[in-house]
Amino acid sequence: MGEGKQPLKQEDEEKGRGGIVAVNPRPSKGILSAAVDLLEKVIVYFGHDKSKPYHYLSGLFAPADETPPSRNLPVRGYLPECLNGEFARVGPNPKFAPVAGYHWFDGDGMIHGVHIKDGKATYVSRYVRTSRLKQEEYFGGAKFMKIGDLKGFFGLFMVNLQLLRAKLKISDDSYGVGTANTALIYHHGKLLALQEADKPYVVKVLEDGDLQTLGLLDYDKRLSHSFTAHPKVDPFTDEMFTFGYAHNPPYVTYRVITKDGIMLDPVPITIPESVMMHDFAITENYAIFMDLPLYFRPKVLQK
Ligand SMILES: [Fe+2]
Repeated sequence: MGEGKQPLKQEDEEKGRGGIVAVNPRPSKGILSAAVDLLEKVIVYFGHDKSKPYHYLSGLFAPADETPPSRNLPVRGYLPECLNGEFARVGPNPKFAPVAGYHWFDGDGMIHGVHIKDGKATYVSRYVRTSRLKQEEYFGGAKFMKIGDLKGFFGLFMVNLQLLRAKLKISDDSYGVGTANTALIYHHGKLLALQEADKPYVVKVLEDGDLQTLGLLDYDKRLSHSFTAHPKVDPFTDEMFTFGYAHNPPYVTYRVITKDGIMLDPVPITIPESVMMHDFAITENYAIFMDLPLYFRPKVLQK
């Protein structure tokens, strides 16, 4: 073991500026990782029902390869010269086949962009270069737990396999394990790719329309919890409002980011139990959190 103790790739120091953290995980490949892979194979063999089809990996859901900028797309009608910019969307697109279950929400974030400039259009699709994706590329296969695995005892085994890989330093969860696959938002000059269990990934749109992941945004170390995929930007003040939820108190933390990109102090939101909170709302004067009964109760999984 120990071959992977160097960072996968040292990224430009420049990316450390403005609260952007270069993502250089340090996974490790060797006898230990092979032993855990073997253990996983045994658990999957006995615990996973292979007869179930992967609906979310076929047909319209089938994963696609990255597409470098494809210029001069055919245009029906015409593109006004005043129309310049990039339309971008993100969605799940797994790079590696799952070892067992797969849910629509599990795929690696891939951004599809159409860049329009001077009456011409360019298409591109790029993965968000998450810590998770970089490590799976290093191993050449899926190594992180999936929502599609979270069923009964088998789910608990798969959760513990991920914890075991991290504990043995086979995988490196110090940059989070999110996929950045849920939503995009643009704030303070930064395009952010989001998934609610992780911090935002900053993606740069290059001159030719290509997309480059710069790293994780931690707002100069002020962000230490997860960040919803659905923050809100106030169109009048340009402030951004967001929150993160956690399995430990405070279960919800509300944050305000100024129009200048400064994250203000955390505001704990007191609720009695850990819930999955996907979204929230803002009005002119209030932030509204919905304490809905979708609880995290791992022990119920065992029943
Ligand atoms: Fe959503």
